[in-house]
Amino acid sequence: MARIAIIGGTGAELFPHGQDATEISAAGKWGEPSSSLRLWTQGDHEILFLCRHGAEGGIPPHRVNYRANIAALAEQGVDEIIALNAVGGIVPGIVAGSLVIPGQLVDYTYGRAHSFFDSPNDRKQYIDFTEPYTQKIRDRLKQAADAAGVTYTASGVYGVTQGPRLETAAEIDRLERDGCSIVGMTSMPEAALAREVGLPYACLGLVVNAAAGRSNTAIHQDIERYLQSAVALAGQLILSYLASR
Ligand code: HPA
Repeated sequence: MARIAIIGGTGAELFPHGQDATEISAAGKWGEPSSSLRLWTQGDHEILFLCRHGAEGGIPPHRVNYRANIAALAEQGVDEIIALNAVGGIVPGIVAGSLVIPGQLVDYTYGRAHSFFDSPNDRKQYIDFTEPYTQKIRDRLKQAADAAGVTYTASGVYGVTQGPRLETAAEIDRLERDGCSIVGMTSMPEAALAREVGLPYACLGLVVNAAAGRSNTAIHQDIERYLQSAVALAGQLILSYLASR
């Protein structure tokens, strides 16, 4: 039995939760996590679910206490973290309503508390972040998606922007020149903090819109249309993941 953390992003309240979940309040040295942790057993495994934007979804990306969230999951002894992140698709092949398992990221965020090694007294820690997402989880996610017949893109570069505003069309052009294929606001510092505490971590991107300037449809209209189905697809993929793990 593994204890698998799922960090739900935008639309987390739509994610199918298990029966008989227990709620764990997990404030610690780094403060209050965004929500209580919801623990349930699913098949052979335990799921520990955290809502990144709070139970009501009201915490914006730049205000999330990423350190408290990752510290709480580490404290609960999870074996790995699967992060669900709503993203916009930048390149033609990555369309709204689909899923993506990115392999890389570019961090454009600023001013976020982004490290546990934050005091002059801490030993200096230069984590290796060459591969920001854990390959083994990515491989399992791909196998699970194949087994479930869920359409997905097997790689991609996640451009992490500061928000909470969406990007300009020119900013998206720049991200594309930088090699980004999807854009979102929440993979950093979350992914780096997971690495700092040694937790395997991967991202499952829920593509809920075409990025700014990439479609004639208004972004919010896209999100309204695709969020629910993308979360449902992610739920299917995770069920398949758990069944095969
Ligand atoms: N940009 C940034 N963050 C996002 C987007 C986007 O287009 N869609 C969902 N989260």
